Amino acid sequence: MQVGIDKIGFFTPNKYVDMVDLANARGEDPNKFLIGIGQKEMAVADATQDAVSMGINATMQYLDKIEKDKVGLLVFGTESGVDQSKSASLFVKSALKLKPEVRAFEVKEACFGLTAALMIARDFVRVHPDQTAIVIGSDIARYGVNTPGEVTQGAGAISLLVKKDPAILSLNDGHSAYSEDINDFWRPNNSKVAMVDGKYSTQVYLDFFTNTFEGYKKQKNWNTRDFNAILYHLPFTKQGLKANRLAIADQDEATVKRLEDSFEASKQLSMRVGNIYTASLYMSLLSLLENKQLEPNSLVGMFSYGSGAMAEFFSGNIADGYEKEVNVNKTNEMLDGRTQLSVDEYEKIFNDALIDPIDGQELTSDEKSGVWYFAGTQNHIRQYRQK
Ligand code: HMG
Repeated sequence: MQVGIDKIGFFTPNKYVDMVDLANARGEDPNKFLIGIGQKEMAVADATQDAVSMGINATMQYLDKIEKDKVGLLVFGTESGVDQSKSASLFVKSALKLKPEVRAFEVKEACFGLTAALMIARDFVRVHPDQTAIVIGSDIARYGVNTPGEVTQGAGAISLLVKKDPAILSLNDGHSAYSEDINDFWRPNNSKVAMVDGKYSTQVYLDFFTNTFEGYKKQKNWNTRDFNAILYHLPFTKQGLKANRLAIADQDEATVKRLEDSFEASKQLSMRVGNIYTASLYMSLLSLLENKQLEPNSLVGMFSYGSGAMAEFFSGNIADGYEKEVNVNKTNEMLDGRTQLSVDEYEKIFNDALIDPIDGQELTSDEKSGVWYFAGTQNHIRQYRQK
């Protein structure tokens, strides 16, 4: 039985900063950000968008196309959790009006969270082939104003429907995992911004990529040339470019061109959104599907990396007719419809969002109609409303 991704929903908030403006404000050469880091725009979440609201909004993109009563599992992967106890899944379940029998919980391992959720969902559907699963990755990457990591911030969510006979990507058996207890990036409970050993993190990412990619090829008895595309977790697109360069070193001309072309297609959304932690790898998948024509059954390799650190390489095959499930115009409309912020405006919004609203204070959203948002707390209970 084939099990995999049947629907993809994507959401990013309605504000962004241009990287040229940010470079100028920080006294950097814009090419450092545009080429050296590989980012063009950075999504900014104000105080009314959090992991939960973005996760709901991503799922709303496909909710009217699925049989809601078949959803038996809802797993939320995030490192921007809104509660130490209650899972983000329960807020989402309520907004989506899913049945009470759904199994709902949250998972965490930095950016690996959505991959963990996806693998749980794959196994769930194998055991319960008549049910489906929703898995969500939703995050706000915050390093702080005027920090080296600032240029790699972002905000957004991806929601996936996992089912048998999927319409987009069937997941292959097997995976190559690797983990080590290290301190490349982390966020203590008392901090709203991440702590990072930046240069070290970029090297560990590449080491974990080599380790899991080589391990996977060995396990499956496959070669690099067997892949039609390789997708990466993209904390910033230059990081994926470096991993892709490792993948294509010493390959034949046709393989190099194919994997360079597919990487180019897969980084388009990340360049305009930034790092969305758990969802970044899956935003690469959406970007590939929207920007490249793929043959049915094309083999797509996927590299998931979560700091701390945990990595996994796995793969899937493109389903015949996947084009019907993606809508590049809808994605572009969301991105093109955003408001460009000046650096001063971004700094204010960023710093305001670090402070929790006073209990009882009602927040209002400037998102367009239909979008869910965080409206503040009432008696310390988080309120989510739809515009
Ligand atoms: P930095 O020190 O500001 O940048 O920090 P740099 O000096 O290393 O320069 C970056 C690149 O720009 C270099 O290229 C320069 O040569 C180039 P590279 O050597 O890397 O090829 N450059 C220029 N290029 C063109 N024209 C110019 C120019 N000037 C310089 N004029 C750093 C960069 C990424 C370290 C920082 O932004 C940071 O700490 N970011 C956050 C950490 C991060 O994203 N790490 C990625 C791996 S860890 C991961 O992926 C997990 C994560 O998503 C979290 C999770 O799992 O939850 C982060």
